[in-house]
Amino acid sequence: MNQVEASAPGKLYIAGEYAVVEPGHPAILVAVDQFLTVKVRPSETVGTIHSSHYSSIPLQWTRENGKLIVDERENPFHYLLAAIDYTERYVKECGNELSIYHLAVESELDSANGLKYGLGSSAAVTVATVRVLLKFYGMSESDELVFKLSVLAHLSVKSNGSFGDIAAATYTGWLAYSSFDREWVKAKLNTHSIQSIVALDWPAFMVEKLTPPDNLKLLIGWTGSPASTTDLVDQVKAKREAKAQSYQAFLAESKACVEQMIQAFRSGSLPDIQIAIRKNRHILKTMSDSTGVSIETSTLAQLCEDAESYQGAAKSSGAGGGDCGIALFDRESSLIDLVSKWEAHQITLLPLQVYTRS
Ligand code: PMV
Ligand code: MG
Repeated sequence: MNQVEASAPGKLYIAGEYAVVEPGHPAILVAVDQFLTVKVRPSETVGTIHSSHYSSIPLQWTRENGKLIVDERENPFHYLLAAIDYTERYVKECGNELSIYHLAVESELDSANGLKYGLGSSAAVTVATVRVLLKFYGMSESDELVFKLSVLAHLSVKSNGSFGDIAAATYTGWLAYSSFDREWVKAKLNTHSIQSIVALDWPAFMVEKLTPPDNLKLLIGWTGSPASTTDLVDQVKAKREAKAQSYQAFLAESKACVEQMIQAFRSGSLPDIQIAIRKNRHILKTMSDSTGVSIETSTLAQLCEDAESYQGAAKSSGAGGGDCGIALFDRESSLIDLVSKWEAHQITLLPLQVYTRS
């Protein structure tokens, strides 16, 4: 067999962050046209795994009780190895022989000098690896199978997120997504084969492709400061118990707001989508005040304020704390001055388009 390859795109959250970590709470995401590509070619005896991209990215560590601790969940190599492990277990259970290969990763999801944009490279490397290996072993690769195998890989790394990033990298385009009951899936891992788990319906899992109205224009602003999603999600989770009442209110409000936004996509109403974006920004701000976790940094607040002065509806994207913000405008608006306004405030417009796999 010759070389095979598969790519997966980066992602951005549009709405529903944090609440989406709880099963059945929807979020809206997009896939963007920057890609991570994994190539595989057969080898006779020794296999290799090569990624120039990862070796240039600094590995983060902290010190706990005098010990140097690397958070496994921040190390993309673990996701790559877990993706290989789960996909090969599945391939083997389906009765196929495993073989040896050279695997290489190329990524556009971080800037050349190793700066992180927050476009979801751990999800993309997992999805692209699962896809390329299914291809390599001559198996069919439905989106649902790729999503589920990628999720099992992330669960094994004890990833604390909602897996919305995996949904965006798999299904692409504009998406509504709710996460499944992760305890249910984890319990199945003790009693079922991979092959039978991926064939089951996962409770509360929901994906719906959305069509944006023609007049919707999405701009993405990058704050230049990297943020750790894993760490921010841990911080919010740690406050969940102490703030149980306000956290439940946050979950209910986020769910109602994102459901309104999904409805606005279905009816093609940009003004209603914009109303829901502003509402979601407010809901996240209230949660941030109550938990003390900084989501909308001062640069992200400036990004939103600047966008609002051009009739845009804007908010932080994803976990916040840095990374990117998103702003939704009417396509007719003239936005040339906005870009220089953002630049004056140290915000870079990322020239990304939403990517839909045909
Ligand atoms: O910061 P991002 O783009 O990785 O988004 C994280 C979104 C959260 O809802 C906070 C966590 C998650 O996994 O859904
Ligand atoms: Mg982020």
